[in-house]
Amino acid sequence: MKKIIYPAQQEYILSFINQKSKLIKSIENFAKENNIPILSKDASEFLEQIISINQPKKVLEVGTAIAYSSIRIAKLLKPSSVLMTIEKSKDNIKLASTFIKKAKLTRRIKILEGDAVDIIPKIKNKFDFIFLDADKEDYLNLYKLSLNKLKKGGIIFVDNVLWQGFTAAKKVPKKYKRSTEHIREFNDHFMNTKSLKSVLLPIGDGIGLGLKI
Ligand SMILES: C[S@@+](CC[C@H](N)C(=O)[O-])C[C@H]1O[C@@H](n2cnc3c(N)ncnc32)[C@H](O)[C@@H]1O
Repeated sequence: MKKIIYPAQQEYILSFINQKSKLIKSIENFAKENNIPILSKDASEFLEQIISINQPKKVLEVGTAIAYSSIRIAKLLKPSSVLMTIEKSKDNIKLASTFIKKAKLTRRIKILEGDAVDIIPKIKNKFDFIFLDADKEDYLNLYKLSLNKLKKGGIIFVDNVLWQGFTAAKKVPKKYKRSTEHIREFNDHFMNTKSLKSVLLPIGDGIGLGLKI
């Protein structure tokens, strides 16, 4: 994330974030120790702000990992609201279930196990809020599928749109070329979707925020 905003400003922003929840802190540490990608701290704070303002009743998350963001979202929802979260990795599903139990959120968070490409078209519900955070090669397809499930007036929140700065860089290391192309293609669609009022923000690894109109 060094190539998105200057390190001093990033550090300054992060210096105000003081996570009080022991469970959230322990999930952050677990993710770091085990190299599991989760939403950055500043993007998570922003996500919480949007959830608090919007108070969605039905939320869909694409890419649960170990339920770090699921828990941060669900704890802000009303008891009658529901978060459905899709994950294809069996190992991550096990870990996510453990953390969701620890957070006492088993009634509010429902994990849908499998590939989101197959699962999303089968979901009958429409959602007030969708968080897209999955494999980059699937992003565009998952975005199109998700948009069909987003209510008018609903919000879509997408992580990694600046992809460590590479989407806007002239030179991209070989290792990141394909993933960067995928995100650039996604961003093009996201910013030109007629049914969406969309913006790209330099928070965390880059957040795409869209309102369905
Ligand atoms: C970046 S992590 C999600 C992090 C999580 N949202 C958080 O911030 O705590 C991406 C996760 O999406 C899962 N994933 C990627 N593509 C998927 C797909 N097509 N269907 C279901 N899960 C997928 C991966 O297995 C991985 O666990």
